[in-house]
Amino acid sequence: MRAQEKARPVLILLGPPGAGKGTQARRLEERHGLVQLSTGDMLRAAVAAGTEAGRAAKAVMEVGGLVSDEIVLDILADRLTEADVQEGVILDGFPRTTVQAEALDVMLAEHGERVTGAISMDVDDAAMVSRIAGRFTCGACGEGYHDSFKPTVVEGVCDACGGTEMKRRADDKAETVAARLEAYHAQTAPLIDYYAERRLLDRVDAMGEIDAVTAALSAKVERMREPA
Ligand code: AP5
Repeated sequence: MRAQEKARPVLILLGPPGAGKGTQARRLEERHGLVQLSTGDMLRAAVAAGTEAGRAAKAVMEVGGLVSDEIVLDILADRLTEADVQEGVILDGFPRTTVQAEALDVMLAEHGERVTGAISMDVDDAAMVSRIAGRFTCGACGEGYHDSFKPTVVEGVCDACGGTEMKRRADDKAETVAARLEAYHAQTAPLIDYYAERRLLDRVDAMGEIDAVTAALSAKVERMREPA
């Protein structure tokens, strides 16, 4: 990470699997000039590349558990130093444990930075299972879709890039989703209090339609970016 003349925005999206973190981070990226950093995407890339970290992560991800803090922190710390993320980031799926949150604070403080804000995307568990069960993404550009809530305009063809290879995630099976939700409630939900205690927490109702959630998040991001 370079020494910052002006600290970059570091926004965190908190929420259980299927809350819409990825969907919304991609939209906020376009609207606010921030870069989405998804530890889930980074770990899936490491698994696909067969790196040592990827091999260790694969077995845990397949059963819906959390990958070790050590592996995740290594991957994220490297990514935060890259040139394309120096104007600001949206952290999607990170931090997920108190250890990760504390390590992030230390990592940023070393360079005169800090977390700008955390937004909890509030949803109910039952809806999450159906959101995840219907999810698919374009294999070419990564645009996310849902069988019922956000189908492609032309079946099998990506609206964004015209790609025709659609992918479904291996950890989106019902039994794995239950384990992921359990991990969220046990290890990640306590971060809502962590950021509330530091007066960094905001919340949005993420049960609404995708556009309505984007509008609510966008307004909060704008406010967070206003000079104090
Ligand atoms: P990760 O990839 O981060 O998955 P997740 O947190 O389980 O979240 P998802 O990607 O499933 O959901 P999302 O909230 O992004 O929802 P989406 O926008 O896709 O992590 C995967 C695994 O990696 C973890 O289980 C863990 O093993 C490991 N991992 C990752 N980070 C880690 C970390 N920091 N520490 C340790 N381990 C880590 O939306 C879901 C669907 O719903 C889509 O189809 C979408 O179109 C639809 N949808 C979205 N919003 C709406 C809406 N408002 N209404 C209706 N449908 C909607």
